[in-house]
Amino acid sequence: KQEDILIRGGVVVNADMQFKSDVLIKNGKIAQVGLNILSPGARILNATGMYVMPGGIDPHVHFELPFMGTVSKDDFLSGTQAAVAGGTTFVMDFAIPLGREISPLEAFEQYKKLGEAKSVCDFGLHVAITKLNQDGDREKIVRDMAEVVKRGVNSFKFFMAYKGTLQIEDHDLIRAFALARELGAISMVHAENGDLVQEGQRKLLRQGIHGPEGHSFSRPPEVEAEAVHRASVIANQVGAPLYVVHVMSQAAMEEIARAKAKGYRIVGEAIAAGLTLNETAVFDRDWNRAARYVMSPPIRSIDDQHALVNGLKTRTLDLVGTDHCTFDTEQKRLGVDDFTKIPNGVNGIEERMTALFDRLVHTGKLTPSDYVRVTSTEAAQIFNIYPQKGVIAVGSDADVILLDPSKKKVVYHTEHHINIDYNVYDHWSFWGSVETTISNGRIVWNNGTLYTEQGTGRFVPTPAFGKMFHGLESETFHSSDYFAGHSNGKKKGVNRNGSY
Ligand code: URP
Ligand code: ZN
Ligand code: ZN
Ligand code: ZN
Repeated sequence: KQEDILIRGGVVVNADMQFKSDVLIKNGKIAQVGLNILSPGARILNATGMYVMPGGIDPHVHFELPFMGTVSKDDFLSGTQAAVAGGTTFVMDFAIPLGREISPLEAFEQYKKLGEAKSVCDFGLHVAITKLNQDGDREKIVRDMAEVVKRGVNSFKFFMAYKGTLQIEDHDLIRAFALARELGAISMVHAENGDLVQEGQRKLLRQGIHGPEGHSFSRPPEVEAEAVHRASVIANQVGAPLYVVHVMSQAAMEEIARAKAKGYRIVGEAIAAGLTLNETAVFDRDWNRAARYVMSPPIRSIDDQHALVNGLKTRTLDLVGTDHCTFDTEQKRLGVDDFTKIPNGVNGIEERMTALFDRLVHTGKLTPSDYVRVTSTEAAQIFNIYPQKGVIAVGSDADVILLDPSKKKVVYHTEHHINIDYNVYDHWSFWGSVETTISNGRIVWNNGTLYTEQGTGRFVPTPAFGKMFHGLESETFHSSDYFAGHSNGKKKGVNRNGSY
């Protein structure tokens, strides 16, 4: 049996309100919220002067991702240890079926197993669909999508870039969005025009530009914005909700604003890197340093960065992840002669909560409640695990952080918990330090020390039909309309429970 924990004297912050309150935790759940709670025998945490907040939810991470000729460095162990050290208690990873041999269902099972064996906090999974035919078998992918929904996935990810490996073409996107919608799953897109990116890369290499700066030049904001626009139109045409991951430019954000103004069901995700870093970093004379900032879509200008921060304030952007995807210096050097071969990705999982507190709350742009909304509650609602996660309320999972707003967190790559030899935030300091992290009622981070146990994190199923589907469930809709002509002339739909 776990020890009871009594958090005393703090200010509880939920997305809808904040109030002075104690919080009692028993058996992994929040047992009581109120003033002057008495609980003899409980371990007391003094939260005077601190915010008591729902643990962060990072909706976008990649652990041990096989990508661009190598495998990303952080796995579910180092990745979730860094997460809890930074105040994040729930992560959503992407099961990506890379290679022809592995199906979406196999990818899901593989990542679920990795996560269950290694994670120190709870996790959920998105499943990427990279094409609609595996070995020419479209029906198999359709069956797999229905099956993973049954097993606890309510989100499918589609890459409109990475031509030749992950990219899915528009005609498949139309059908896949339609099918996801019928299954009650949200469609997520990596929005960049992959064909334009490929042309841009060829042109720059021909001009003799081989360094990391070529990465930025080859995929300008318009290339991102065009894909956001196209995806939003396609999703709206088939009546599917859409989630745009890692919005990095003002131009892309404006496409989301436009779609929202038209009444489309669309969600915009910012990432920590886009809100804090700017493109000057990739122009560093030191190749090793510049390459650290290579990710897609690229890190943009200071003006874009400010626009994205303001987008969170105006709710054009809804929530914040990291896209944490790490490669060490040696791996980055795979692209030393050719920027198109630099493995794409930056770190952020350990810094997201403090960096955002500094940039959003300490600057006065967002209230503490809005901060909780964009770092936790919104993700729980979109992925349909609210109020199990994303709120401090009786009966919710005891995923809780104590954040000291008057203390600075200084980042040192020599002290971080991720598995690479640098940190894009090395020597940065942020107002708002996560002093304590509680995951499922266990203290896993306290005063600078980890108390984690490998494999204690659970896979949390995300059920179909979340927030973005309100009112959609009742509409009649058949993905078979979009698959007509592909099933021996017979119209086959997939019904709500995923059978045929
Ligand atoms: O550069 C990035 N973003 N790497 C991770 C894979 C992806 O596109 O999200
Ligand atoms: Zn992406
Ligand atoms: Zn447009
Ligand atoms: Zn990503």
